[in-house]
Amino acid sequence: MTLLPAVLGAIVSGIALQLTFYLLKQRRVNAQAVSRGCQPAPVADSASIWLFGLPILWSMIKADRDQCRPQLFAKSFDDLGRVHTVRKAILGFRILATRDPVNVKFIYQSPSFDIGPARSQALMPLIGLGAFTAKSTSKNYRSFVRSHLSLDKVSRIEVRQTHIQYLLQSISIGEDGWTTKIDLAPLFFHFTLDIASEIVWGKSVDSQAAAVPSRGGSKILLEQCFDSGKSFMAKRCNFLSLYWLVDSFGFRSVCAQLHHEVDKLVEGRLNSDPSIGGEQPVILDEIVKSTQNRVDLRNQTLNLLMAIRDPAAALLGWTFYHLARHPKVFAKLRMAILESFGKEPITMLDLAKFHSCAYLQHCIQEAHRISAIVPLNERFAVQDIDLPRGGGLDGTKPVFVPKGTHILIANYAMQRHPEFWGSDADLFIPERWERRKVGAEYSPFGGGQRGCLGPKFGHAIVASMTIQLLQRFDSIENLEFAPVRYRETFESHSGNGVVVRLHNADD
Ligand code: HEM
Repeated sequence: MTLLPAVLGAIVSGIALQLTFYLLKQRRVNAQAVSRGCQPAPVADSASIWLFGLPILWSMIKADRDQCRPQLFAKSFDDLGRVHTVRKAILGFRILATRDPVNVKFIYQSPSFDIGPARSQALMPLIGLGAFTAKSTSKNYRSFVRSHLSLDKVSRIEVRQTHIQYLLQSISIGEDGWTTKIDLAPLFFHFTLDIASEIVWGKSVDSQAAAVPSRGGSKILLEQCFDSGKSFMAKRCNFLSLYWLVDSFGFRSVCAQLHHEVDKLVEGRLNSDPSIGGEQPVILDEIVKSTQNRVDLRNQTLNLLMAIRDPAAALLGWTFYHLARHPKVFAKLRMAILESFGKEPITMLDLAKFHSCAYLQHCIQEAHRISAIVPLNERFAVQDIDLPRGGGLDGTKPVFVPKGTHILIANYAMQRHPEFWGSDADLFIPERWERRKVGAEYSPFGGGQRGCLGPKFGHAIVASMTIQLLQRFDSIENLEFAPVRYRETFESHSGNGVVVRLHNADD
C-alpha cells in the first residue's frame, strides 16, 4: 500500500523528465532550422496528434487491417491541399512523409539517408542480416548480387517450361473454351517462389506441384512459414523503432521452422555437384565464395528470396488485375505479343526481346505505377540534412531534417497525383507511357545506393509469364467487383485476389 504513491510519483516524474527533454530538444531543433534558413513542413492529421499521436497509429493499424492504408496515406496529404511533404507525430518520433519527386530524388541520392530500424531490425528474426536488411555501412551484401544479376547473366537465366506448364496446367478449361473461375494471385506466388528458389538455392522447391489439388493442394511448409512470418513482420514495421513491442512465441516458432527448411536447402546445394543446373547462375554458389557460415548463408539467401519472390508475384497479380478490367487493353497487348513473339514459348529471360515489345513494357509499367507495388518506402536520416523543399506556407522552403528522423516515401500517393500524371492519374492507361520520360515521380524500385538490385530481372519474370498466358488465352473476364483492397506485407497485393476466367485461344 505504502509503495503505491512512490511508484506513481516515479512514473509521473519519469514522464515529466521525458517531456522536458523532448521540449528542450525541440527548441534546439527549431533554432537549428532557423539558422539554416529552413521552415517546417505542415503537420498532417494535426487533430489527432494528442496522446503521442496514438490516434494516428491506431488509424494506420485499422487501415492496414481494412487493406486501405495507401489511400488513407494519400488522403493525409490531400486533406492539406496542394501539399507534398508533411510532418507526422506518432509515438513521439520525428516523421516526415513526402510525395514530392524533387525530395524523393534527393533522399535516394543523398548519403545522409539509410534504411531505418523498421527495415534493418524489425525483419531480423525472420530473414536475418543480408542485402535487404543490412545497413549501408555494414559488410557489403549487395555488390555480389549486382554482378551476379548483370544483364548478360540474367539473359542466361532460364524460366524452365515446367514452372510455366505447372501454372498453365492448374487452369482447367471447360468445353465452351472458358476456364472455371480462378484466382490467379496464389498461382503467381507459387510460380515466382519456384523460380526464385531455383536461382537462389539451385533447386526449385516445387511449390506449384504441391499446390496441385491431386497432390493435396496445399502450400509447402517453407511457403507457409514465410507468408505468415512476413505478415507478422509487416505489423512490426508499423511501430517504427518500437517494432520490438510486437512479438510472440508463435512468430518465433514460425521463424525457427522457416530457418530449418532453408538450412536443408543450403545443405542440399553444398553437398551437391555444382555443375547441376548447367549454365544457370545460382546465387548461393556466389555467396559461398565469401562465407561458409551456415547462419550467414541462410540469412543472405532468405533476404534474396524475399526480394525476388513477392514483388514479382505482386506485380504479375496487379498486371492481370488491371488487364481483366480493361479487355481492350488485353486484346491490344495480345496482338502486340503475337507480333513480337509469335506462339513460341519464351524460356530465357531475354531482356532485349522483351524491350522490343513496347506495349508490353507500357502495360507492366502502368500496373506498377497505378498500384504501387511498394506503396510506402522508408529511409532514416543518419545525419542532419535539409530537404530541398516542402517547408513554409507555399512549400518552397527547405525543410530541416535532424538526424534520427524517419522518412516515409509515399509512392502510391506520388504515382497517382494529377499534378505529376494529369487528370486521368487514377485510370489505367498504358498508352500514357508512349512519349513519357521517366522521372522521380515514378520510383517503384526505390533508388540510390539502397535501390532495388533486380528491376530488370523482376520485369523479365513478369513479362515472360504475361507473354505465355496471352499466347495461350485470347480473352479475359473479371469476376470480382468489390472496391480495390491493398494487402500489404512490405509490397502490396490485391486483397480481393485476381479473380477471373480466361478463354482458350484457338488461333
Ligand atoms: C518486379 C519486381 C520487383 C520490385 C517491384 C522490386 C522493388 C523493390 C523496392 C521498392 C525495393 C526497396 C528499394 C529502396 O529502398 O530504395 C527493393 C529492394 C531490393 N530488391 Fe527489388 N524489386 C523487384 C524484384 C527484385 C529482384 C528480381 C531482385 C533480385 C535480386 C531484387 C533485389 C532487391 C534487393 C537485394 C533489394 C534490397 C536493396 C538494398 O536495400 O540495398 N528485387 N526492391
